[in-house]
Amino acid sequence: IAPDGTREFDLELRSGTTDLGHGPGTETWGVNGSYLGPTVRAERGEPVRMNVRNGLDEASTLHWHGMHLPAAMDGGPHQMVDPGTTWSPQWTVDQPAATLWYHPHLHGATAEHVYRGVAGMFLVDDPAGPVLPDRYGIDDVPVIVQDKKFDGDRLDDGAAMFSDTGVLGDEVLVNGTPGPYLDVTTERVRLRLLNASNARVYRFGFDTGLGFELIGTDGGLLPKPVEMTSLQLSPGERAEIVVAVPAGTSPVLRSTPPDLGADFWGTRFAGGADTMDILQLRAADRLESNAVVPSALAAPADLGVPSVTREFDLTSSTQINGKSMDMGRIDEVVTIGTTEVWEVRNVSGGVHNFHVHDVQFQVLDTDDPALTGPKDTVYLPPGRTLRLLMRFTDFSDPSTPYMFHCHLLRHEDNGLMGQFVVV
Ligand code: C2O
Ligand code: CU
Repeated sequence: IAPDGTREFDLELRSGTTDLGHGPGTETWGVNGSYLGPTVRAERGEPVRMNVRNGLDEASTLHWHGMHLPAAMDGGPHQMVDPGTTWSPQWTVDQPAATLWYHPHLHGATAEHVYRGVAGMFLVDDPAGPVLPDRYGIDDVPVIVQDKKFDGDRLDDGAAMFSDTGVLGDEVLVNGTPGPYLDVTTERVRLRLLNASNARVYRFGFDTGLGFELIGTDGGLLPKPVEMTSLQLSPGERAEIVVAVPAGTSPVLRSTPPDLGADFWGTRFAGGADTMDILQLRAADRLESNAVVPSALAAPADLGVPSVTREFDLTSSTQINGKSMDMGRIDEVVTIGTTEVWEVRNVSGGVHNFHVHDVQFQVLDTDDPALTGPKDTVYLPPGRTLRLLMRFTDFSDPSTPYMFHCHLLRHEDNGLMGQFVVV
């Protein structure tokens, strides 16, 4: 905490080597270490300053995914941090408790920088929120899921032939750990799932059929917990689940073939036929009692009545509304204080999702319980249209844009991204 009350974080992008299960010599990047980065945590209402030092020998950025903040602090492609320099954005955290994350967001090379290992969680806490399991690393555990491919001891980011989805690995790391397990010591454990993979969509469930409660999505808690046995997350999406693992058992969190809504080959080329073990939970023979999930969690945000509708067609794997990303072009101008509906259509035939910076939106016309909470990233099956309700409350800046894009990182790099300003 700085003298002015600001909570300060020093984050340095570094290169190094990490043993990811293929020997100690695997070249990786990370934040304050050689792979991934520390969990950053701040309270709602707290002013924060991030001192982002770039210790790599190429320029990069750090973007605060899911954060409501001024565009100039967002860490997108317009906030490049040159090697050896420090960028210090600051803002006041003003949004509900949530599991957010950070990762590079430079134009054209986000996939590579994230794949090498630059990413971490950013947790927003709200002391006024409901009582939930919250002992970090004990009954409140980050689960950063990434699939990787290796060529000897080298991280291989080559995509399969014919596939335009980007790299799909055949191994899974959780928090950078191969073959991961978690010792469970409490009656319930809260898992903060983050799909930090470049392209893979996971469908999480337990091998034993054990159910769990979904309590939160990208931008915060649901109105009430939802019981489920499987949950799909596309790249960039998060979910908080609470699991009661029976004492003495060791169920495996596993990803089974997701429902991508694509045709046979489209599904195959997007990894949609794969089953992968994610994380084993090893429950002790006697479990300590801990917080129970309350039946009401958070009042849904009042986003108001929309006065503007915008249409976004994902026309190919490189274009939105027929245009590829251009750093010098503003695609949309939003008026501060308005509620809008963004109608997003996947007409490309391929597998995509859609992410909007600065806001958390509500997905309209859906009865999918996994879409009842605040979202900033959503899966968009081929041929589907989603209507997203969002409100732009503050931070006018006519000269600095926010991004909207597909979070399959190769698509983003290839131009499936656009820019909007709030004025
Ligand atoms: Cu997670 Cu525009 O990014
Ligand atoms: Cu895409």
